[in-house]
Amino acid sequence: MSQTYITLNDGNSIPQFGIGVYQVPEGEATYNTIMNALKMGIRHIDTAHAYQNERSVGKAVKESGIPRNQIWITTKLWPSEYGEGKTSDAIDKMLKRLDTDYIDLLLLHQQFGDYIGAYKDMQRAVKDGRVKSIGLSNFESSRLEEILDMAEISPSVLQVECHPYYQQNGLKKRIEKYGTVIESWYPIGHGDKNLINEPLFTRLAQKYNKTNVQIILRWHIQEGTIVFPRSTNPVHIKENFEIFDFGLTKEEIEEIRNLDSGKRFFNMTLEEQEQNLGSWKPED
Ligand SMILES: NC(=O)c1ccc[n+]([C@@H]2O[C@H](COP(=O)([O-])OP(=O)(O)OC[C@H]3O[C@@H](n4cnc5c(N)ncnc54)[C@H](OP(=O)(O)O)[C@@H]3O)[C@@H](O)[C@H]2O)c1
Repeated sequence: MSQTYITLNDGNSIPQFGIGVYQVPEGEATYNTIMNALKMGIRHIDTAHAYQNERSVGKAVKESGIPRNQIWITTKLWPSEYGEGKTSDAIDKMLKRLDTDYIDLLLLHQQFGDYIGAYKDMQRAVKDGRVKSIGLSNFESSRLEEILDMAEISPSVLQVECHPYYQQNGLKKRIEKYGTVIESWYPIGHGDKNLINEPLFTRLAQKYNKTNVQIILRWHIQEGTIVFPRSTNPVHIKENFEIFDFGLTKEEIEEIRNLDSGKRFFNMTLEEQEQNLGSWKPED
């Protein structure tokens, strides 16, 4: 069984499984991680300006020799880049850092600053071909509806914390009529051992001859969310991708749904997040 794709609300087709590079250092670490993932057949990369590793992502994509149109690159704008005109310039810089002609999916990383002006520029970038799809990340307040109401191009995805302990059912309802799809960050709880070692996952792992992490990732796939677990370990990268040769039953999906406890692993308040926006220096 091969990997699955999701048709977004703008008609573009995204590989449902990818690899994330949050907290992976620029240079060899990111380059090797992406190169390993691409060699294994993974075709979707999730980065961000704030991760400060777009250059290594772009280099690995180029040097992999795989045609650009077979690889999906998602990246994200930081609030310091939001604003009409300003965001357009920021997109040009991003294209240079990634060493590519277009970005497959561009997101607003955080719900602060002039996100309306930024969204307008993102829509223009779709029209002029610099970006294929656009979406949001971390818009969970009423600012989500502000964008949904003004958008000419509805966000294709909403990237938020989502895993068996925090399943985002309320948010899924709010975006349903726009055809926006959830992308799950912290899909395996940022590596949280309590989540990974849940007895339910251990039981299912034994039944299917898989690992607990594979059970969690398979659950995401069957729930229709998009996932890009992070790993720099080639053994884990391979393991995470080997989830397309089995399926959980409806009852098992339901059992995992029952683990939803409202527990988040990222607990910064909106105020703290806003204060933290200047914690790194945007690149050229
Ligand atoms: N939009 C946002 O604000 C936002 C925020 C956070 C994350 N994200 C995105 O979501 C991606 C995933 O989130 P995340 O990296 O923070 O958390 P995650 O994917 O839930 O967990 C990553 C951790 O799990 C470990 N791991 C991975 N595969 C494993 C396996 N098979 N067995 C055991 N441990 C395993 C990794 O360690 P090893 O390297 O040792 O395998 C790493 O410590 C990020 O890379 C980023 O692209 C977006």
